[in-house]
Amino acid sequence: MPKHFLMCRPDYFTVEYAINPWMHPEAGADRDVAVRQWEGLKAAYEELGHRVDLIDPIDGLPDMVFAANGALVVGGRVYGARFAFPQRGPEGPAYLRWFAERGYPVLEPAHVNEGEGDFLTLDEVVLAGTGFRTDVVAHKEAQEFLGRPVVSLTLVDPRFYHLDTALFPLDGRNVAYYPQAFSPGSQEVLRRMFPDAVLAGAEDAEVLGLNAVSDGRNVVINAEASTLQLELKRRGYEVIPVDLSELRKAGGGPKCCTLEIRGEN
Ligand code: ARG
Repeated sequence: MPKHFLMCRPDYFTVEYAINPWMHPEAGADRDVAVRQWEGLKAAYEELGHRVDLIDPIDGLPDMVFAANGALVVGGRVYGARFAFPQRGPEGPAYLRWFAERGYPVLEPAHVNEGEGDFLTLDEVVLAGTGFRTDVVAHKEAQEFLGRPVVSLTLVDPRFYHLDTALFPLDGRNVAYYPQAFSPGSQEVLRRMFPDAVLAGAEDAEVLGLNAVSDGRNVVINAEASTLQLELKRRGYEVIPVDLSELRKAGGGPKCCTLEIRGEN
């Protein structure tokens, strides 16, 4: 099944502030390298037959490349983002406008939430992260607007500040995740919900290997996450490694650069 993604070219990408432990403004980042790597990710999606739409990047919003944070789109409805840090504040309205201009029903959120960074959608349920960015009250707001059950999960390790840095859906029913990124209670919830999950270790998590995008058959994943790639192959998935090392300097990987637009169903 081809997917529909929204991406944002990192034309204004820099690391000039630090809002997560991956970011070191004094070390900077190379924008040209970031653009090249991002083009590689976009090409990988297109080769798999997925549709990629683009939103115009905005000068002065260096993290806007991380489109996953811009909204949550389920059943054709768009739940807008409201960023935790002021540096990213204007991204929320910019993404919401993109959808509103195209006729999508949108909700401007009352509560802090960072879109698909903290909301991951499966067939029957939406998994939602809290602890660092997204306010748990936003989980309820999203559930009410989308009419889907939302399950709250608590993140405890600041390196894995968004749910999508610690977990990704393999398909509509199963996930891969790094257990230690979650509170004990949330680990138990994940064990109960996904007895057959792929469990990742620290080495793969530390290269943002869990920040991957699966279409149920192909998994686009950071090239450095080698053990996790082997396990995915063992389970029958096609693995498409990508190099996004420059964007990792801002704390992002393939999934962070990718907002999925889910149509009505
Ligand atoms: N520098 C960005 C931030 O800290 C990175 C966002 C990564 N996006 C994601 N979906 N995890 O907000």
